[in-house]
Amino acid sequence: MKIKQIALGSQGLVIPMIGLGCMGMTGFEEGHMYGPADEQEAIATIHRSLELGGNFLDTADLYGPLKNEQLIAKAISGNRDQYILATKFGWEINEDNKVTWAINGKKDYVKKALERSLKNLKTDYIDLYYLHRLDKNTPIEETVEAMAELVKEGKIGYIGLSEVSSETIKRAHAVHPVTAVQSEYSLFERTVEERGVLTTLKEQGIGFVAYSPLGRGFLSGQIKSLNDLPENDFRRAIPRFQGEQFDKNIELVKAIEAMAEEKNVTSSQLALAWIMSKGILPIPGTKRRKYLEQNITATAINLSDAELAQLESIVPLGTDTGAAYDEFSMGLID
Ligand SMILES: NC(=O)c1ccc[n+]([C@@H]2O[C@H](COP(=O)([O-])OP(=O)(O)OC[C@H]3O[C@@H](n4cnc5c(N)ncnc54)[C@H](OP(=O)(O)O)[C@@H]3O)[C@@H](O)[C@H]2O)c1
Repeated sequence: MKIKQIALGSQGLVIPMIGLGCMGMTGFEEGHMYGPADEQEAIATIHRSLELGGNFLDTADLYGPLKNEQLIAKAISGNRDQYILATKFGWEINEDNKVTWAINGKKDYVKKALERSLKNLKTDYIDLYYLHRLDKNTPIEETVEAMAELVKEGKIGYIGLSEVSSETIKRAHAVHPVTAVQSEYSLFERTVEERGVLTTLKEQGIGFVAYSPLGRGFLSGQIKSLNDLPENDFRRAIPRFQGEQFDKNIELVKAIEAMAEEKNVTSSQLALAWIMSKGILPIPGTKRRKYLEQNITATAINLSDAELAQLESIVPLGTDTGAAYDEFSMGLID
């Protein structure tokens, strides 16, 4: 099976219509993101993805911190030019490689973060470099000017932003063309649609990348109770996974699973096919070959208008599925 290639943004970046989210392949500090990760299987997943044409990898310096980029360097060693790498900066990481939890979009930090990512990824260029969160104390123009210099120097190919408003997108795009915006988007999270961000991107010719397209695994139907999540799993801190909200969301997942069964696909595949039917690029995260193969197979699923309507009637736009982050992290969204 050959994955269809699509243009992301208007500057010439061409990538497969589905990417591979690598965040869960390493833990964060002492905890897990999405359960324990096995390094060998994670590396095998990246290799299998390339074999299937899935050469667009998504990481960030925050993940680990830094360990995720280091894992990717190991996986792509000797084969760098076969991959399209996207990484992110902005959550400040200090000289001791500790996350300070401040967001830093200042010019000197942009350059420092880039050099560190190049070192960790063992490469001399990054294809797509994202600002991970807006630094509300630094004008976006300053951050993007610094990124534009990196483009000029050949250190990055394209500029991206993550979880930003329409206003920030327009201001940034006026300084230097923005190629992609990455925000959370799934059947459970449609804020970018409600806030007009998708419309702005279309108007400006900027691509959109949907992160957590499986609702951090919720939409896979594999999580039946909170007890299925390990003690130090990141998701336990998310309101969407807590208390009564969890029970309400499980009912929605059951209905999605029933529809998937009728169609002879998995609920993960259905959730991904729904995103791709809108011409949006999802970057499902997995650290196992088995899930990766299922997710890539979803690129061949075609949903009829009636099926799309059926799915959207299960989770209509505006359905309250709970907050995507705790209060602190919600405050960092532009
Ligand atoms: N810009 C940002 O602020 C931001 C925030 C979050 C994530 N991201 C990026 O987006 C990527 C994807 O998002 P995500 O990883 O948070 O969430 P996701 O893709 O919605 O879900 C990942 C979870 O789903 C499970 N899964 C994947 N495929 C499956 C399948 N076919 N069947 C059953 N379960 C399946 C994974 O299991 P296993 O882990 O066990 O394989 C993992 O627990 C990340 O890897 C990261 O690169 C960006």
